[in-house]
Amino acid sequence: MDSTILVTEMKKKDLPFLFDLWHTHDVMRYADEFPRLRGWSKSEDLNDAWKRYQEKRGKSGKEYTQLILRLGDEKPIGESFFASLEEGATFGKWRKPERVICVMGDIKLLPQYWGQGMGTDGMRKVVRYVFSETACELFVVPPHRKNPAAQRVYEKAGFVIFTGMRSWRNHKIMEMSKEMYRKHYGD
Ligand SMILES: CC(C)(COP(=O)(O)OP(=O)(O)OC[C@H]1O[C@@H](n2cnc3c(N)ncnc32)[C@H](O)[C@@H]1OP(=O)(O)O)[C@@H](O)C(=O)NCCC(=O)NCCS
Repeated sequence: MDSTILVTEMKKKDLPFLFDLWHTHDVMRYADEFPRLRGWSKSEDLNDAWKRYQEKRGKSGKEYTQLILRLGDEKPIGESFFASLEEGATFGKWRKPERVICVMGDIKLLPQYWGQGMGTDGMRKVVRYVFSETACELFVVPPHRKNPAAQRVYEKAGFVIFTGMRSWRNHKIMEMSKEMYRKHYGD
């Protein structure tokens, strides 16, 4: 199934939507910043948040991107953020492979859109965006161990769980390499 969800980079006018989403308790229950990659999402001031996003993106390039998920009519319904991991990054027993460009990301939707396949469609579009618009070679996502919906969405989008540990700080790690992406998505 291919929905009408569009995935585009955030514009300044999207910030009020993002801050509302991040203040929705059900959305954030198992999905706080992990592992504190953004650096501007707790800002009280939209101008300051926008400035800090631009600065970070300027320094980090396309591998640091805030995406907005929209319906065909442009209405924002969710977001996805990804950022690259530094050489030597570890999460428990998971370790970033040396010299492999690796980004970590996630997805969040407004609760009224859950349970209709939109998370899966949205995540598939995020995956396509990451592997076509950035130099990413390994995409990792960290679903909370008590968040089976997120785990299932990532699984349906083609991620595979890292079985080297049960969880780290309550998060599991799931991975998709560029090879897995090509196989799964035929791109
Ligand atoms: C995670 C999230 C994006 C999923 O979006 P969604 O639109 O509901 O996802 P989908 O409808 O495409 O798929 C959900 C899947 O999870 C399954 N699921 C939902 N609740 C479940 C539960 N309690 N136990 C097991 N599976 C569950 C559904 O059955 C479905 O799988 P299926 O198609 O095989 O039946 C959404 O719940 C969300 O935004 N959550 C808050 C933010 C968040 O936690 N994000 C993840 C950060 S790592």
